[in-house]
Amino acid sequence: KKDTYILGIETSCDETAVAIVKNGTEIISNLVASQIESHKRFGGVVPEIASRHHVEQMTIVLEDAIQESKLNWEEIDAIAVTEGPGLVGALLIGVNAAKALAFAKQKPLVGVHHIAGHIYANRLEQEFQFPLLALIVSGGHTELVLMKDHGTYEVIGETRDDAAGEAYDKVARMLELPYPGGPHIDRLALEGEENIDFPRAWLEEDSYDFSFSGLKSAVINTIHNAKQRGERLRNEDIAASFQASVIDVLTTKTLKAAKDHNVNQVIVAGGVAANQGLRSVLAQKFAETNIPLLIPPLRLCTDNAAMIAAAGTIAYEHGKRSGYDLNANPSMLL
Ligand code: KG4
Ligand code: ZN
Repeated sequence: KKDTYILGIETSCDETAVAIVKNGTEIISNLVASQIESHKRFGGVVPEIASRHHVEQMTIVLEDAIQESKLNWEEIDAIAVTEGPGLVGALLIGVNAAKALAFAKQKPLVGVHHIAGHIYANRLEQEFQFPLLALIVSGGHTELVLMKDHGTYEVIGETRDDAAGEAYDKVARMLELPYPGGPHIDRLALEGEENIDFPRAWLEEDSYDFSFSGLKSAVINTIHNAKQRGERLRNEDIAASFQASVIDVLTTKTLKAAKDHNVNQVIVAGGVAANQGLRSVLAQKFAETNIPLLIPPLRLCTDNAAMIAAAGTIAYEHGKRSGYDLNANPSMLL
């Protein structure tokens, strides 16, 4: 069987990324131009600035990714691009670049869901074993997704308010840490003590849903009340206690869902999967079961285009084709 080479493009948020993946499993080239430095002073991603950067970076990253791959255009089978969800202005740059390329090079075009991409980042490490459970934890998503086969997704739990990464970023902001705050909280937590009893939102007994807004409010109130009493809490302890609450809920619900659905594999995806605390507690809990756990390396946890090319490969093999009317879909469902 002939090898399949898919070129992926990702611009849903603040990374301009292009990658080429072979057979959905092997990275040939994978380039990411991050805009973090430009957004930092605003404490979050500024959509207009993100779009401008994507416009400036797209052709450069694209040319570099092709060059690094040492492939000819004839060898590329299709162009995969994130069509949603994400920032509409940011998505549009990637979608239009992909459409222009597909037209100019006469290649099939395949629209990809950003979260399918995060999930398929795992397949660049190891083949999937179905049924599998995916825990998706990013700046915009906190979901438990059951997959019985390639390309089929059943959302069995999701956040009812803030995403896990969003909670990290908001708490980091309260602690006056730079954007994005997740990695800073992660680092501080290592040096802190879990001496503040923050709430855990378990919700209804059988629910796999999440809620992080109560935890966020509890952190605000705790900091505020301490100030009123003239006390100063250590940031390290706040970080450790906050992180303990997030990890406790995420890992407990993931383990329960994995057992309830008798899955053969658990995979983790999204930027928060880079969290050292989460990685170690998950590893610990799943080591006590016979369910294999797969967490991608850090560079594949955060936004990249190899994951889009990997998810795009499956869609392409299943015959999915997008037309030149492909549009950005900022609130696309999985
Ligand atoms: O998947 P991602 O790169 O972008 C989205 O699709 O949202 O995830 C970004 C999120 C941010 O909220 C960031 O703070 C969080 O992932 N993050 C972390 C860590 N590294 C990134 N959160 C906790 N611990 C980390 N080490
Ligand atoms: Zn993402």
